[in-house]
Amino acid sequence: MAERPITIAIDGYSSCGKSTIAKAMAAKLGYAYVDSGAMYRAVALYALRNGWADGDTVNGPAIIASLNSIDVHFRPDRATGRADTYLNGENVEDEIRSMAVSSVVSHVSVIREVRAKLRAMQQQMGLRGGVVMDGRDIGTAVFPHAELKIFMTADPEIRAQRRFDELRAQGRDVTFESVRTNLAERDHEDTHRAEDPLRQADDALVLDNSHLTPHGQLALALQWAEQRIGMRNPKMGN
Ligand code: DC
Repeated sequence: MAERPITIAIDGYSSCGKSTIAKAMAAKLGYAYVDSGAMYRAVALYALRNGWADGDTVNGPAIIASLNSIDVHFRPDRATGRADTYLNGENVEDEIRSMAVSSVVSHVSVIREVRAKLRAMQQQMGLRGGVVMDGRDIGTAVFPHAELKIFMTADPEIRAQRRFDELRAQGRDVTFESVRTNLAERDHEDTHRAEDPLRQADDALVLDNSHLTPHGQLALALQWAEQRIGMRNPKMGN
């Protein structure tokens, strides 16, 4: 009998390396990887392009009214092997990572109707298990019954440095200070919003990777996953 796959929810602060570990786990286990943050970023990009998001203000009613016209989905890119994010048929994978989008996305993600729409899509994607999804509310709101929940955290300075290095490597013209400020603001927004704030689920396992190598943290997370897969697929007696 085929092994029954589990659902893996990875939540945590911005720039903790959630997507790196989630992708690696998905590849190793043969599961699908879903970047839920990319979906919020795509909606934020749509709002920006329509002039509905500017600094700290977003036009919530306009965004809500157009939700039915916003299609977000993922499509695998054969050349890179990654699943790119599409907004109404356009590949926006790179554009959603810009500072402009990062600056407004947390204001867009506080909107209850946006969350409800994206949550329903995410639940649909994970209907049959075999998925590793990362975000802020995956273990608490999207998949509260996930077999494995990981809550990732790391020192804020280390996270800011990692994010800064990543953006500079992409050739983006950012200062360390602006990255650090943006991260601190997003941490605050993510943990203090009324709708599905970022919080550690009671049954989540904490992974603080401030001083762990990528290899070390992946090994630990895979060990947890194998254990949960074993619990979901108990061996039949001889
Ligand atoms: O993971 P990320 O930095 O790409 O996420 C972008 C923003 O989307 C982040 O500021 C919080 C929000 N988000 C959310 O509210 N819920 C999720 N499940 C994922 C992301």
